[in-house]
Amino acid sequence: MRISVIGTGYVGLVTGTCLAESGNTVTCIDNDPKKLAMLEAGKLPIYEPGLQELVDRNRREERLQFTSDLPSGIAAAKIIFVCVGTPQSATGAADLASIWAVGDAIANSLREPKLVVVKSTVPVGTNRRLRERMATRTQQPLDTASNPEFLKEGAAVDDFMKPDRVVVGVTTPEAERLLRELYAPFLRTDRPFLVMTPDSAEMTKYVANAMLATKISFINEMANLCEQMGADINEVRRGIGHDARIGFQFLFPGPGFGGSCFPKDISALVAMSKPGGPPLALMDAVQRVNAAQKRVLGKKIRQHFGDGLAGKTLAVWGLAFKPRTDDIREAPSLVLIDEMLAAGVRLRVHDPEALKNVRAIYGDRLHYCDRPYGALEGADGLVIVTEWQEFRNPDFEVMRKLLQQPVIFDGRNLYEPGTVHSHGFMYYGIGRAATPCAKGQPAGGD
Ligand SMILES: NC(=O)c1ccc[n+]([C@@H]2O[C@H](COP(=O)([O-])OP(=O)(O)OC[C@H]3O[C@@H](n4cnc5c(N)ncnc54)[C@H](O)[C@@H]3O)[C@@H](O)[C@H]2O)c1
Repeated sequence: MRISVIGTGYVGLVTGTCLAESGNTVTCIDNDPKKLAMLEAGKLPIYEPGLQELVDRNRREERLQFTSDLPSGIAAAKIIFVCVGTPQSATGAADLASIWAVGDAIANSLREPKLVVVKSTVPVGTNRRLRERMATRTQQPLDTASNPEFLKEGAAVDDFMKPDRVVVGVTTPEAERLLRELYAPFLRTDRPFLVMTPDSAEMTKYVANAMLATKISFINEMANLCEQMGADINEVRRGIGHDARIGFQFLFPGPGFGGSCFPKDISALVAMSKPGGPPLALMDAVQRVNAAQKRVLGKKIRQHFGDGLAGKTLAVWGLAFKPRTDDIREAPSLVLIDEMLAAGVRLRVHDPEALKNVRAIYGDRLHYCDRPYGALEGADGLVIVTEWQEFRNPDFEVMRKLLQQPVIFDGRNLYEPGTVHSHGFMYYGIGRAATPCAKGQPAGGD
């Protein structure tokens, strides 16, 4: 099939590339000239494991191309996927300006009937509104469908290639048939293709993210209580996870959730219910708990250093909002960085992929380190914000020598307190009591 994908961000680029990989001819369209220049030069504007190789192969085999020209980019397509951003607006609701702009541009250049599929996360009713709006701008028969995307950054290619399920919201049998045919190669292991109304499909995406965000805020709240009560959340987590009704997934405490989806989607959900709808007390609480959780690491640091915090240097490992991505949108690391800079702390930061994006915000206010151990040199402590795999098994002896003061603030509970303690570190995790240095090795350094 000939496909067009509008918006070549984390969702659009993965969607277009994976659809090309399954044999379709795909044109990706974006209005950001910088992104397009990179893509046309064979470089990816984002980091996503496994994506570069797929883009290279499909460009070489001429199944994947990029353009900024929407009318020519959609001319031959049977299906047009809309994957533009739907960021949070000043009111908290989703900002749909890009959806409407793209809808208008498609309608204005339609020369034959097409199926327009919205993959962006949009409030309930958007599909209907888009269809009506486009119909006022063109005489061509057109159909719209909703096809929310559930991929996870850091595992996006795998998620797209082997989805848990595909959800489509359609109003015509022809839209269902086309999408079923398109997705068939990805669902060969009997994963479900779920057909529903566009309203339900749009709602499904928000409810999925609301559930996941709720789990995170729940475990974070319990972690803080554990800490106060002298219990260890890691032991408690294992204690509850074996209950099949609860499970282990998404129940890891940390420094709060970030990213381009959960914060804005919860906010959009709350905004959706506002006009006369039921109050979303739980979603309000999820947001409040998360905002407070993003300050938990800073609080521990302030408590540890007390009045001596200003002028200290801290190493930070992990800046992306989660591992295996360079995305820093709403990342907890940004809250920590702002707090520490305001407190007069110097920061030596390391992330395997996100340094460029962080530098674009903070410029020379931070010291950027290409290697994790380099960040430790001369620092008065280490803060771990993102759980990149390479941080899990460090050489504590080397770390001890590089750091001025042996203290670790572990925002992801990567380490066993006893192990770190035995290497002479003071250790602060999330939801577990702080562990002092081993005897004879004061926290203030040798
Ligand atoms: N990132 C994720 O993990 C994820 C997962 C599922 C769903 N989503 C949803 O998918 C949508 C896209 O998210 P993303 O993270 O890929 O966003 P993004 O910001 O990475 O990409 C959006 C792209 O759309 C382009 N764009 C904007 N307006 C345009 C226009 N008028 N014409 C052409 N291109 C235009 C931008 O230049 C950008 O490249 C959002 O609604 C998001 O909520 C994201």
